[in-house]
This record gives sequence, C-alpha cells and structure tokens, in this order.
Amino acid sequence: MEADITLVCGSTGTGKSTFVAGRIGARERLAVWDLKAEYGRTMTVVTVESRRALLDCLKHGRRVAYSPRGNYKDEFAYFCEAVHAAAGMHRGYTVVVEELADVTSPGKAPDAWGVIIRRGRDRAMRVLGVTQRPSESDKTIVGNRTLLVCFQLPREQDAAYIAREFAVPDVALTTKKIQGLERYCHYVQVSGGFVGVRDGRFPRRPAAARRARKTNVKK
Ligand SMILES: Nc1ncnc2c1ncn2[C@@H]1O[C@H](COP(=O)(O)OP(=O)(O)OP(=O)(O)O)[C@@H](O)[C@H]1O
Ligand SMILES: [Mg+2]
Repeated sequence: MEADITLVCGSTGTGKSTFVAGRIGARERLAVWDLKAEYGRTMTVVTVESRRALLDCLKHGRRVAYSPRGNYKDEFAYFCEAVHAAAGMHRGYTVVVEELADVTSPGKAPDAWGVIIRRGRDRAMRVLGVTQRPSESDKTIVGNRTLLVCFQLPREQDAAYIAREFAVPDVALTTKKIQGLERYCHYVQVSGGFVGVRDGRFPRRPAAARRARKTNVKK
C-alpha cells in the first residue's frame, strides 16, 4: 500500500487542527498526540493522561488522544512505540501529532516516530503531523510526506523553508505569498507535484443554496 503522510503547517489559529479533524473518519482507528487535550472536545475520542490508560485503549484498537504530564520527549517516544505496536495488531491506525516542534527537532526524527513515518505503511498506518514552526520540526516527515498543506506562516524562516519544499517547475510559490496567506486559506501539494491554493473558509454554502439565492435577487 502507498504511504499516506500529511504535513500541516501554519501559525496559530489558522485552521490546522480543524483541517486535520476534517480528514478523519468517524469510525477510523485514531491515536492523537494531544498535549492541549483539544481533540476530545470536537471528536469522538477518549483523552487519557497515563501510559496505562493509553495502552489499554490501544490494546483494544480504540480511538485515543494522549495528553501526558511529565517529560514530553520521553512520553512522545513512548506514545510512538505504543501506537506502532498497536498498529501491528489492529491495522489501519491514523496517528496525529500536534505541534511537532515541541517533540522533534530539525534533525532526523526520534526513533519510534521515524519508524512510523518510514515503515508505518506496512501496518496500514496514516500519519498527520502538525506544526507552527516547520523549520524547527523534524525533516523526516518533510522528506516522506505525500501531502503538504500550508496555512499562513508569518515567520520568514518558516515561510522560506516551506516555499522551497513547494518548489516545483512552473510554480513560483514565494516566501511572501506564504507569509501573506489569509486566514484559513492554504496551499496544498500532493505527491505528484501538483500545487493548488484553497480558500478554506467554511461553512461553504451548498451549490443549491447559492443558486437559490441568485434567483431570489430582485432586479
Ligand atoms: N475553514 C475555517 N473556516 C472558518 N473557521 C475556521 C476554519 N478553520 C478553523 N476555523 C476556526 O478558527 C479557529 C482556529 O482553528 P484551529 O483550532 O483549527 O486552528 P489551529 O491552526 O489548529 O490553531 P492552534 O495553532 O492554536 O492549534 C477555531 O475557532 C475554528 O473553529
Ligand atoms: Mg491546533
């Protein structure tokens, strides 16, 4: 099977988590690295704080968001190992990691996270990584991504980094354009090289409603 790895970048409040939530099916197996404990508010997922509770959910193939206390980097390594192991028993886990720059650095991905990115597809895993500071997050996910999504990045260092990643022939996606994206708008690049920009504002009014409104307008 094909790898399915999405990297979502953007500064705070631009719509990253909302985008991610929109890509997760209601019944899909799910494991979220969720320090802010926000996924449980909008999605059907159990939020846990202890390793034991995490393992219990994973053992049964349940949806879980992990929001640990303590040393984030150790906990992150533990989370990744546990999820990778669980995906060996229950195929088809989707893993979401919020704010990669907190738990990874620009070098190679930490061990278990690297394993998920490079070999997760053997276990039918899907990966979604989220970051406000791509230039400070791990390069493994950047290099292996199959979908790149970029909301506004005001910091030049981050915008320039991602602009380089978007660089495909005939598409001049400049640092300035990424810095100046409007809220909820995002650039998208699929692995074939196609780049597009989407106005992500919602709710989009269904086409039928738009047509109805037009015909109602009095001239
Ligand atoms: N496409 C959209 N259209 C309208 N409102 C949106 C859209 N996407 C997100 N929002 C709203 O904007 C706010 C911020 O969205 P979200 O939490 O997804 O941003 P974020 O990038 O994940 O922020 P943070 O970096 O703080 O985690 C939320 O209140 C959300 O409901
Ligand atoms: Mg968010």
